[in-house]
Amino acid sequence: MNRCSCRSEQHDAPLVRAIEEYVDKRTKRFHVPGHKGGANPAIANLDPVSPYKTQCLLGDVTELPGLDDLHAPKGAILEAQRLAAGAFGADTTFFLVNGSTCGIHSAILAISKPGDKIAVSRDVHKAVIGGLVLSGAHPVYFDVEVDKEFQISLGPTEDSLRRTLDEHPDVRGVVFTNPNYYGVSPRIDLLVALVHDYDKIALIDEAHGAHLPFHKELPLSGLEVGADIVVSGAHKTLPAMTQASFLHLKGSRVSAKDISRALAVIETTSPSYPLMASLDMARKLAATRGCELLSSVIKAARQAREKLNRTPGIRCLTGEYVASKGFRYDPTKLVVSLSDLHMTGFEVSDILRQKHKIEVEFADMVNIVAILTMIDMEQDVRDLAQALCEIIENKFPRRCKAVSSESDIEQALSGLSRVLQDLPKQEMTPREAMFSKWEWVEIEQAKGRISADTIVPYPPGIILICPGQKITSSATDYMVSAVSCGVRFHGVEDNRILVVE
Ligand SMILES: Cc1ncc(COP(=O)(O)O)c(C=O)c1O
Repeated sequence: MNRCSCRSEQHDAPLVRAIEEYVDKRTKRFHVPGHKGGANPAIANLDPVSPYKTQCLLGDVTELPGLDDLHAPKGAILEAQRLAAGAFGADTTFFLVNGSTCGIHSAILAISKPGDKIAVSRDVHKAVIGGLVLSGAHPVYFDVEVDKEFQISLGPTEDSLRRTLDEHPDVRGVVFTNPNYYGVSPRIDLLVALVHDYDKIALIDEAHGAHLPFHKELPLSGLEVGADIVVSGAHKTLPAMTQASFLHLKGSRVSAKDISRALAVIETTSPSYPLMASLDMARKLAATRGCELLSSVIKAARQAREKLNRTPGIRCLTGEYVASKGFRYDPTKLVVSLSDLHMTGFEVSDILRQKHKIEVEFADMVNIVAILTMIDMEQDVRDLAQALCEIIENKFPRRCKAVSSESDIEQALSGLSRVLQDLPKQEMTPREAMFSKWEWVEIEQAKGRISADTIVPYPPGIILICPGQKITSSATDYMVSAVSCGVRFHGVEDNRILVVE
């Protein structure tokens, strides 16, 4: 292309346009990022320098004198990170600008090397697999409990972790999620104590738990129970901008130098100042007003759940239900199932979008999941509950898109729990699989082959198959039916997946 001229199409900015169109619709947002587009005027007026009022690009600066340097912080960034460590209860906090993914990658790179073993909860996010590819460590999976009614992973138990640590006393560290995308937290007090009894490193993925330390009705955060590394997704559950996260360290098992060396490899050398500023702002808001703002959103979510659970045909996940299974619940997640009315979560979220201008965080075969943050307004939560009740009252036609057969729906509904309970054999490390020769095969032809890719229904991003694992028939059966029901997968293209040649 000539440097001084370009084709007229280059004058378009389709992503910017798409975002502007979305903003113009003034949709009620029950999804991340946590700042909700700055739509709450009461929040925007809180602070004279609120980023919600300023023009974002004005603050998009770089490492100028006085503005410090993320990779060698000595001034404003160091001070902001120190304040964040104080607010979260960490010894050291790193600002992350490439999402929680880069924190998880760096943490695994910092604590393991090729040939080491890392114990990994079966339901971790694909970012953990990326970390294993980078470090060359062997994953050793431990089981999770699955809830058959909502078809979700509840998480690992103390027993499953103890069995794994007894069988593999040589693991370097243990990774699990707190809470998961549906707001379910394992007993991290028991899990972290167990990890430390075996003198291992506890790495907790709190991509959905950055708000936990700021309200007593929320499940415990990893730092509160002494976890060594906690990656905390400020852009999901605090009002920070997309990609802005924290990595917190506590105790002496992991050195801050090892983490900063790994971050220097993984993270951009051009960190965005608006992202970092949003971490500083989010920390300030959470630390100064988090408790009060979360109280009102927790109350609104409780009222919505009560209303919905009184409505025949609707079921919401509740703290009591989750506690009866031995887990904890984050009440800022609204997980709602209309499956008793034979509606999939996809259908419910389509109707919410089209008829009610409400966008939820995500849907799966059974549920819709709305994420509430301290920025949400009570009236919007009431509107969401009301819209769900109206969907039932209007007896909305059962299936919007008559694309899926009954048997596919039944198979996809029950299939995920079967796959999660079935631990596939790891035939080679994720790194070896990544560097192997690969070929495409149809999903049905993949049974018994070794996966060359991570296969993940997205959202929620929980891995189904990792690189290096033997592909089971429960996984291929599930994938075939789920794809036909509209579940989107990373790692599946045109009904084909990558396997090792
Ligand atoms: C449990 C979990 N961990 C990690 C991540 C990665 O976070 P990020 O998108 O900030 O890189 C996600 C993203 O959805 C997630 O759900």
